[in-house]
Amino acid sequence: MGPGNALADATVLVTGASRGIGAATARLLAAEGAHVLVNYRDKAKRADAVVAAIAAKGGTAATVQADITSDADLDRMFGAIASLRVLVLNASGGLERDVDPGYALRLNRDAQVALASKALPLMANGGRIVYVTSHQAHFSATVDTAADELEAYAPVARSKRAGEDALRAMLPEFTARGVDFVTVSGDMIEGTITATLLERAQPGTIAQRREATGGLLTVDQFAAHVADAATADLPTGEVVLAGGPGAWAQV
Ligand SMILES: NC(=O)c1ccc[n+]([C@@H]2O[C@H](COP(=O)([O-])OP(=O)(O)OC[C@H]3O[C@@H](n4cnc5c(N)ncnc54)[C@H](OP(=O)(O)O)[C@@H]3O)[C@@H](O)[C@H]2O)c1
Repeated sequence: MGPGNALADATVLVTGASRGIGAATARLLAAEGAHVLVNYRDKAKRADAVVAAIAAKGGTAATVQADITSDADLDRMFGAIASLRVLVLNASGGLERDVDPGYALRLNRDAQVALASKALPLMANGGRIVYVTSHQAHFSATVDTAADELEAYAPVARSKRAGEDALRAMLPEFTARGVDFVTVSGDMIEGTITATLLERAQPGTIAQRREATGGLLTVDQFAAHVADAATADLPTGEVVLAGGPGAWAQV
């Protein structure tokens, strides 16, 4: 995707944009002319660096701190946004140390629903919600995606699929507001912290995913799919399988 103006004058919010796929998506959407709100939870310096990189290329962006599992934080964040064209639901987690057993569902399902609900009134003139997920999560409803070396990720995968289902259940509400909903799913992404954590928990995981898929996407390649989904001509409810279905082609 080269620089363009598909999102000129539009405000877009990318959750969890202080690093990884969210940060790369924020940079790509800014190159399309969007004013990008770079949400982060803790890492203010990293979020500032994302905004500075966008500004250095002539784009506009601002950081917006919010722990998306906090209703008060969400209200503060949305209270400062006048209108929104695109909401990219990228922030995710559940593999962190010291989190309680209910955290993955609170973050990957409940917070996503709360974000979408609170964003809708700001998307009065139509817009799009993009939900970012993994193949291990997306396909967990139909196949045992944890049957190989990915057991450590299984609870997170289930919570992310629960988030996808809960958002999908909101489709009539989105449509009534003229808002589209698109899911972008990918297999393990090269060079991410999640991949590193899973490799540490279960050595051999990355090599196994490479073999199963015929090659993993990089952060920039996956982010390009996410950014494209923000403006591409897609029917609401579409699921974009970035890099193809890979290991689950038979499903
Ligand atoms: N990594 C993969 O292999 C892979 C594969 C397929 C799909 N995906 C999907 O791509 C998305 C991004 O993955 P990633 O690997 O780039 O993630 P990541 O490196 O773990 O980054 C997570 C981001 O989410 C933020 N975040 C975490 N908890 C938050 C909270 N409670 N409130 C607000 N922000 C929070 C973090 O902010 P702070 O840094 O400020 O804490 C950070 O910016 C996820 O939806 C993931 O499921 C990833």
